[in-house]
Amino acid sequence: GLRCVVTGAASGIGQAVAEQLTKGGATVVSLDRNHPTVPVSRHIPIDLSDPASIDEALAQLDSGFDAHINVAGLPGTAPSELVFKVNFLGLRHLTEAMFDRLNPGGAIVNVSSTAGFGWAQRLESIRELLAADTFESGLDWFRDHPQEGNTYNFSKECVTVYTMAMATGLVEQNVRMNAILPGPVETPILADFEESMGKDNLDGVKFLLGRHATPDDIAEPILFLVSPGARWVNGHALVVDGGITGAVLSGLV
Ligand code: NAI
Repeated sequence: GLRCVVTGAASGIGQAVAEQLTKGGATVVSLDRNHPTVPVSRHIPIDLSDPASIDEALAQLDSGFDAHINVAGLPGTAPSELVFKVNFLGLRHLTEAMFDRLNPGGAIVNVSSTAGFGWAQRLESIRELLAADTFESGLDWFRDHPQEGNTYNFSKECVTVYTMAMATGLVEQNVRMNAILPGPVETPILADFEESMGKDNLDGVKFLLGRHATPDDIAEPILFLVSPGARWVNGHALVVDGGITGAVLSGLV
């Protein structure tokens, strides 16, 4: 079976990913601040807001993985800098250390969000940030460049652009990197999103689609992206939102 590293497996979408991988015969190493409640092969505690903690976790991790799946994240109700550290800086720090721990043919999937769909408007800033290629220098950039609006959206825009930008950089290792952009998903942080994005907005999405996503609705496309069938899908931002983004972009709703 596949050997996989999954962050965020202690709850929500990450838990569904871990469950489905295990069901499919994969070995799952969990990296999370909390211990997962579903069976995993191994759990290593990590605090993604702290590069020293990430390095400690990495020191306990071997190599030869087929997939690295970044699901852990904080909602926009958490303190701004913490959101940026966990959702982007920590994700990047961990992911870059995983590059040479992945087997040829391996894949990385980053969970972004439809909340990060507006990256094109901030592309110049995000490119500048990406050029700051350590956790600390990225944090310095962030402190020097206050962003408008909720940091959650900006952190997800960064994840999306990072994913697209890194794709060709991993060709030599024969590793692919893709992003998933979910719309609202029924997990413990949905209540936080109602607070930070407006309950009316989320209710509106639910009204149009009939329901919100389940964690499995998101986990299955993630599994596809790490499967051999996705071998030519690379640097792609896959929207998995039941159709709401398309409807909004086309001006129909
Ligand atoms: P969740 O709250 O159920 O799970 C998040 C996981 O991340 C938890 O296991 C938590 O322990 C872990 N985590 C948080 N901070 C951490 C840290 N500092 N170090 C290590 N682990 C940490 O949330 P959910 O809904 O499963 O979200 C997973 C991902 O999906 C997040 O990146 C979120 O932004 C994204 N997403 C969620 C949507 C939703 O509506 N639920 C919509 C779009 C994206």
